[in-house]
Order: sequence, then C-alpha cells, then structure tokens
Amino acid sequence: MKLLITGGAGFIGSNFIFYMQQVHPDYELVCIDALTYAGNPETLERAQGQLRFFKMDISDKDAISSLFEEERFDAVVNFAAESHVDRSIEHPEVFLTTNILGTQALMEACRRFGVGRFHQISTDEVYGDLPLDRPDLSFDEDSPIHTSSPYSASKAAADLLALAYYRTYGLPVTISRCSNNYGPFQFPEKLIPLTIINALRGKSIPVYGNGLNRRDWIYVEDHCAAVDLILHKGKIGEVYNIGSSSEQSNLDVVRSILSELGKSEALISFVTDRPGHDLRYAINARKIQTALGWKPKTEFDNGLRKTVDWYLKNQSWWENILNGTYRNPARLLSGVGAQLTLF
Ligand SMILES: NC(=O)c1ccc[n+]([C@@H]2O[C@H](COP(=O)([O-])OP(=O)(O)OC[C@H]3O[C@@H](n4cnc5c(N)ncnc54)[C@H](O)[C@@H]3O)[C@@H](O)[C@H]2O)c1
Repeated sequence: MKLLITGGAGFIGSNFIFYMQQVHPDYELVCIDALTYAGNPETLERAQGQLRFFKMDISDKDAISSLFEEERFDAVVNFAAESHVDRSIEHPEVFLTTNILGTQALMEACRRFGVGRFHQISTDEVYGDLPLDRPDLSFDEDSPIHTSSPYSASKAAADLLALAYYRTYGLPVTISRCSNNYGPFQFPEKLIPLTIINALRGKSIPVYGNGLNRRDWIYVEDHCAAVDLILHKGKIGEVYNIGSSSEQSNLDVVRSILSELGKSEALISFVTDRPGHDLRYAINARKIQTALGWKPKTEFDNGLRKTVDWYLKNQSWWENILNGTYRNPARLLSGVGAQLTLF
C-alpha cells in the first residue's frame, strides 16, 4: 500500500508513521507537512524505515494536485491541522484555511486521482461539552455537532464536508473522532508536556479556572492502532469514535505528573479561564469496539509514567523547541538520516 500521511511532523502524525513502519514494514509511506510552528522535522529523524517527506501546505491546491498526479496514492490519512484551541481563539483564520480548505484540497485530489480511501482525523471536540454533574452522559457518533471554539468548529466543518464528499461524489471516506491524546513527541504547548517541562525547569504550571474541567485521555499509540484498523476494516462513509474511558480532571493530571516527578504542588498556578472552555468530554467508543474489535491497551497511569519518562530521556528534543533551533533549516538538512528522503 502506498500511503500519504499529512501532518506527520506533528505529534500524532509522527507517532502514526512510527506505528505503521513497525506494523506494516512493507508499506510505502509518504509524508507531507507544512512545518508550521507545530511541525518538528527532528521528530521524523527517528523514523525506522523508508519515508519520503515533502514540505507542503495541504491548502496549496496546485501543489497537492501535482503530488497526487505524480504519486498515485492508495490511501490518505489526514492529520494535518492547526490543533491548539487557544491559538484558534487568537487567530481563527488559519484554522479555517488549513482545517477546512486544506481538507477539501486533499479530497478533491483524492477524487481526481481515484484514491481508494480518505481518512479524516477528527476530534471529540466536535460534540462540544457535557455537564460535570452528569457522569452518566457520553458522546456517541450520533450525538449532535455542537462546537465551542474556532478550532472545533473548523474540525466539524471538515467532517461535514468529508461526509458530503462521500454522499455527493462517492468519495471513499472514513472519519475518526478521538479524545485527548498524550505520549511522546507532543508539542510543549499542550497540558501534559507543558506540565512535565515546566515542572522539570521549576517554572509555574498554569491551570485554567479551577482545574476541574475533565478530559478523556488516550495514549497516542492506542489512537494509532485504531486508525490503522479503520483504514483496513472500517466501513466507508462511517464515523468512529475513539476513546479509552480514562477521564481525569486537568488538575488531577497535573498533580499526577508532579507526584511522578517528585515536585511540589506549589508550582501550580490557577489562571483566568479560557473563553468558552469546555467542561467535560466523554467518548462512547462502543462502535469501534464491537464493529472492529479495537480496544485500548494502555491504562492512564502506565501511559502517563511512560510519557514522563520519555520527556526525561529526550530532553534535547524539547529543548530544541524551547530555544527555537528546531525551526532552523540548516539543522533540518544536517539532521536527515539515511531513511528519510526530503523534497
Ligand atoms: N492532540 C489531540 O489530543 C487530538 C485529539 C483528537 C484529534 N486530534 C487531531 O489529530 C490531528 C493531529 O493533531 P496533533 O495533536 O498531532 O497536532 P500537531 O499540532 O502536533 O500537528 C499538526 C501537524 O500539522 C502540520 N500542519 C499544520 N498546518 C498544515 C498545513 N496547512 N499543511 C500541512 N501541514 C500542516 C503541522 O506542521 C504539524 O506538523 C489533528 O487533525 C487534530 O485535530 C488531536
């Protein structure tokens, strides 16, 4: 199979590349990524097998069309996105361009060049939030779309567009909506890596509001396994929720990390809440479990320990982000290993 993975220099996309290289060593993998602030080419130096990389913006229709014409992919998995809610509140436009128009450019190219599958990586945030005092409630695939931030609205728009491309043009589309991921190679702006790194540097750890907002956490490798399964066994035109029923409040996540690192809770600093901050996400993942036999393998405590350990052992990876050298093109080229071909 010749597979295009977009956004592969980011957190989940890179983990997916590494996962696919292990599980399907015979697959031909091509990655495109615009290398925005969130894309780190250094991450892809860890690729274990062959990988071709093109620096490309998914919303550049002409470049995308030429690439598809040249490469003739069997399938596309679209991870590329602007992904940070806070940034979407400050600068919504780029979220619309990448997350909506970029997805559309990819689907047009899939349509034009007969790609056998377009898989859209979406998020549980398209369902909005649930009240904190109703632990009995969760979102299934038929829950209404009810977005809170420009980020989630742009992801929801892309989902609807993908379903429209399936219905109108017969494009073989699948969609997955996953809960909050954590694990290696996550950009330091997100809660778990931010907490680990700030704790290691003795800096204060910002927690929004009272910290009681709850998220359903999934170890990134479990997400990758679910996407692989959907790609091979998923039904065209279907949406699959992915979640591991590991609900935690933000405050508890921070406390667990501090305890793991033996650091004081005095580092916690409660800051003004995010506007429109979702209270609680909870995913009902029964469909993918019963229809495709997927199950998450990593318990939250174990996954968090592995993640903390990874950030302890890979200090130079995140230090290069903090000091900005990860964006230096000279570094990018000097860091190219034998496995990774850059275009
Ligand atoms: N992180 C989570 O908890 C989570 C949960 C559910 C769904 N998702 C979805 O998973 C996907 C990946 O998320 P992530 O956390 O790895 O994000 P990330 O921000 O770490 O990575 C995104 C990648 O996309 C690239 N990119 C951004 N704009 C681009 C463009 N116009 N063209 C090409 N590449 C571009 C960036 O350079 C980066 O490498 C996103 O679609 C996100 O909505 C994330």
